[in-house]
Amino acid sequence: MGSKLDEIIAFTKRRGFIYPSSEIYGGLAGVYDFGPYGTLLAQNIKALWQKHMVQLNEEIVALDSAIFMSPKVWGASGHVAGFSDPLMECKSCHTRVRADHILEELGEQADEKMSDEEINALLEKHKGEIKCPKCGGKDFTPARSFNLLVQSNLGNFSGEWQKEPTYLRAETAQGIYINFKNVVDTTRVKVPFGIAQIGKAFRNEISPRQFIFRKREFEQMEMQYFMRPDEEEKYYELWKERRMNFYKSLGFKEENLRFKDHENLVFYAKAATDIEYNFPELGFKELEGIHSRGGYDLTQHMKASQKDIRYTDPKTGEKYIPHVVETSVGLDRFFLAVISEFYDEDEVEGEKRKVLRLPYDLAPIKVAVFPLLKNKEELVSKAREVFDTLKQKFMAEFDDSGNIGKRYRRQDEIGTPYCVTIDFDTLEDGTVTLRDRDTTKQKRVKIEDLEKEISGML
Ligand code: GAP
Repeated sequence: MGSKLDEIIAFTKRRGFIYPSSEIYGGLAGVYDFGPYGTLLAQNIKALWQKHMVQLNEEIVALDSAIFMSPKVWGASGHVAGFSDPLMECKSCHTRVRADHILEELGEQADEKMSDEEINALLEKHKGEIKCPKCGGKDFTPARSFNLLVQSNLGNFSGEWQKEPTYLRAETAQGIYINFKNVVDTTRVKVPFGIAQIGKAFRNEISPRQFIFRKREFEQMEMQYFMRPDEEEKYYELWKERRMNFYKSLGFKEENLRFKDHENLVFYAKAATDIEYNFPELGFKELEGIHSRGGYDLTQHMKASQKDIRYTDPKTGEKYIPHVVETSVGLDRFFLAVISEFYDEDEVEGEKRKVLRLPYDLAPIKVAVFPLLKNKEELVSKAREVFDTLKQKFMAEFDDSGNIGKRYRRQDEIGTPYCVTIDFDTLEDGTVTLRDRDTTKQKRVKIEDLEKEISGML
């Protein structure tokens, strides 16, 4: 029996949630595909985030900016110069490891702002203690900074592109900053307000491991909240509280969540905290970052573009650069946290069962419809009729293969909250059995009441 993480990896593959990318070609490190149920779960996670940000906050608007941006964006934001990780290589097996992670394990703090020389001085102090995670070798090359931006050759036919390449975005946030003035000019937002965006981000992670926790292509759900500079601390505290409450309201156990304030800040941050989740095997690790970014990004873009993107206070006419509090969570980490939190095993009538106790809103399939027997035409056609009605309102699944017990188990494991079975009584009195995933209790319900029952209205 492997660890809980191994079990989750096996489950997500077996039940069509996550596949390694390009698996038939041996895979591609740090890249994964969502299978049929994973796609639905990911869409539901994004819809829930969008609802909590945009639908429930009238002062937050949505945006969908392009993955490609002018190369000047990444120069101005500081990513070209400063977005890097220190890397060293085992001289025997050539495995690359992150020097800052190694130092952290040895109780040292590797500051984001540290030079390669300073990192190497710290490594020297621990020489002999550091072992290659793959071959156990103790001889490494010196650490060297490695930029995480992923380059492309978009639109560059002259061979000159290395000078100023277009990058795949490393965070969605920059797409928000460069549209700040557009949003202010074309909508009715007034400071304080937010812009929320969901989208892909790309990073040349040095050692992508730990399943979907650290990917090279991933998705972010980011919100930038713009306010008067003197209100930054207030909103930083407010968003910390709101985001933590969001996870608790979803049913995450309190003991699996905690804040971790950053001591060593990344180049853009004035204050930063992580909401950490207690991932199986990995322990407490960053799920979401909340960053007080000051006026850094807008100021940088104003300088580099030489465009006046300041905000004008509608009452006083004062022009200023608003400050920013950012909330940023990775879809993939959220997905892993959701599976880790809700994948469970219990016993029903003396039999072990695996069950994904997803909150209703996140469940990929809301209801499954079964005819009791596959070879009774009247049952199958009635079940099809019920399914065809329900699928207009809910993501539903029809299943007539295998015995009923097996069909229930399958739906339990993919997190389906309700199963409906059409039996001989249905043909007589128009009622069906409705089974609840969590309690496994069944009750008889009239076909016309199913919609209300399933949407939790009864
Ligand atoms: N805009 C701020 C920003 O990008 P970050 O801490 O680098 O900050 C924010 O990333 C979030 O994005 C993280 O909390 C994490 O959930 C997710 N994330 C970052 N790198 C990731 C990776 N390589 N794979 C999966 N998710 C990642």
